[in-house]
Amino acid sequence: MNQLPPNDPAGQRFAALWAEVSSVGRDRRRGGYSRHGFDDADRQLREWFTEQAGRRGLDVETDGNGNLWAWWGTPAWARNADAATALPAVVTGSHLDSVPGGGAFDGPLGVVSALLAVDELRLRRLRPARPLGIACFVEEEGGRFGLPCLGSRLLTGAVSPDAARRLQDRDGVSAADAAAAAGMDPLRWGRDEARLAGIGSFVELHVEQGRLLHSADPDAAVGVADGIVAHGRWRLTFTGEGNHAGTTVVADRRDPMIPAAATVLAARRLLADRPSAVATVGRLQVNPGGSNVIASSVDLWLDVRYGATGDTTALVDEITLLARQEADLEGCQVLERRESLSDDVVFDPGLSAVAAEQLSAPVVPTGAGHDAGILAAEIPSAMLFVRNPSGISHAPGEFAETADCLAGVQALADVLAGLIR
Ligand code: GLV
Ligand code: MN
Ligand code: MN
Ligand code: MN
Repeated sequence: MNQLPPNDPAGQRFAALWAEVSSVGRDRRRGGYSRHGFDDADRQLREWFTEQAGRRGLDVETDGNGNLWAWWGTPAWARNADAATALPAVVTGSHLDSVPGGGAFDGPLGVVSALLAVDELRLRRLRPARPLGIACFVEEEGGRFGLPCLGSRLLTGAVSPDAARRLQDRDGVSAADAAAAAGMDPLRWGRDEARLAGIGSFVELHVEQGRLLHSADPDAAVGVADGIVAHGRWRLTFTGEGNHAGTTVVADRRDPMIPAAATVLAARRLLADRPSAVATVGRLQVNPGGSNVIASSVDLWLDVRYGATGDTTALVDEITLLARQEADLEGCQVLERRESLSDDVVFDPGLSAVAAEQLSAPVVPTGAGHDAGILAAEIPSAMLFVRNPSGISHAPGEFAETADCLAGVQALADVLAGLIR
């Protein structure tokens, strides 16, 4: 493991920023962090970012979709310059939100590293020939409104503004109302043509969320991601008949928990002959939720990730077919709704190859979704991963050594230095 001397100045700069971010959005009940789009933790972290960017003399703006940007140099659309002749901007960054009870690193590491990479470029006395931006995308995890990468999807038009405004959180608050309460105007949501045209490349640094990097090269602190498998989320609502847990004989029951449970097991069973596929039920809502009550309905959220888009949807079709059969056997109904589907992504081969060569870094794929995956459809995009030897992510145990995070900052600065020329 990379050891750091206790008084290392870069280590101290990292630790100072990291301590500030890490104090926001702790979830005392679940452990870890719960930071979601337009909530109080999100507001505090946005203020923190605005302040840190300001200290560095970067110009901070919020785009029409609520994403935060900090600029070293002015991008073409803000100068009303002709995007066709202006040098396109280089953007890095990530997100500040988390899953419920998530880890500290997923998202914020990319933002903190971006700020420190700007410091590093200045230490190297580099002056960008083109604008360099840091972006913080809204609600990347979809932890509040269900749709991952809300901010980057709105920016690219991968979700319609109407559909996005109608999304609801667990308390029935719409994304539009939550954004308005946070001081944004959801009527401005939508594809931002000028911004997309003015950005030439996007590089997101992220903590690795598995152990592929460690398996590829146990000595590598940083890797380059070459792509993301197709993935999506489906909500299955099983409806039966609420009744008394003590007086209803089995023959009279229409218990939606039975097909829901069978579906969880079927999803695992169907993975047996697809070694690279994963299917997860991480969220269940049992209605009305009394321990002495046969449920009237059960909502089950199914996350499936496998190969190309058609592989993922074919696996989901098999799972939902079994869900319907199990529901029939119990006299229940099942309604399926797709909440999101992200096609498999190949990051820009040129950018990725240059980064891998420059950094002598291993190249690995990933099963995790990222804003870079959404932007890749529009902008040449690449990702750097900082190793996380335990592989734990989306959980409080997510961890990266400070020395590895500093290697990440250097790697990001190296890649950006090549791009801003
Ligand atoms: C987001 O991190 C996801 O991959 O679910
Ligand atoms: Mn992330
Ligand atoms: Mn995540
Ligand atoms: Mn993610």
